[in-house]
Amino acid sequence: MNAVADSKTYRDNRLKAGLDPDNMPKHIAVIMDGNGRWAKQQGFMTRVRGHEVGVEALRRITTASAELGLGFLTVYAFSTENWNRPKTEVDALMNILMTALEKELPVLQKNNVRLNAIGNIGSLPEKANKKLISVINATSGNDGLTLTLALSYGSQDEMVQAIRKVALEVAEGKLDPESITEEHVEKHLFTAGMPHPDLLVRTSGEQRISNYLLWQLAYAEFYFTPVLWPDFDAEGLYEAIASFQKRERRFGQTSEQLTVK
Ligand code: FPP
Repeated sequence: MNAVADSKTYRDNRLKAGLDPDNMPKHIAVIMDGNGRWAKQQGFMTRVRGHEVGVEALRRITTASAELGLGFLTVYAFSTENWNRPKTEVDALMNILMTALEKELPVLQKNNVRLNAIGNIGSLPEKANKKLISVINATSGNDGLTLTLALSYGSQDEMVQAIRKVALEVAEGKLDPESITEEHVEKHLFTAGMPHPDLLVRTSGEQRISNYLLWQLAYAEFYFTPVLWPDFDAEGLYEAIASFQKRERRFGQTSEQLTVK
């Protein structure tokens, strides 16, 4: 975790939230699900209203994460499969992304949040891609929370791209196949240099990982909540972290091994 993350303010905020300040996840990954169902439940004619209100939930969770001094928050904003949704919904999501980037920049700056993106961002519409890169650049000096948007992201695609790069090193004679390690794959993932998520949160009651961070979630704790994403709030985040803090993380070892000092 970054150096500032242990400051007294963060400790106080964690205590106020009813959390153990010394057992915080370093990286929370989120599948923001349920926008369409939320819009339908509320009687809106279109699913798009759910995505719009979903941006407000994202702002709440980002701000709450920053206040707790979390290091990394990575959210699934648009999957490679989402390109197959009706064009009207895809276009609306791209517009929502553009508007959100514009509007949220001052909030990110105020909260010392660094924006980052993973995925095939070159396949976003040019204007959205440019705006994204400009906000990433504008916040690059912030050293609090890193908020990563997974955009046009698919984990299997990410791994295929990494494998191609490793294969190229082998083909060029720079790497012996026998000496390939996890690190060789890791350094070619979009998430290279980031710690792996230790907690995955998925809203809306669905219990699957939908091609999200398959490699990186190897040892993550999973937390599922029936709350639909537009209704998810700081209290929901605290509950997810409290649940994480009750888990015994064994990383393949036995419970007894962990208690032996
Ligand atoms: C899943 O809900 C959500 C998405 C596919 C998009 C997530 C986007 C946001 C929360 C808005 C913020 C977005 C950006 C780009 C910054 P769903 O539509 O699959 O809901 P359903 O399962 O109820 O149909």
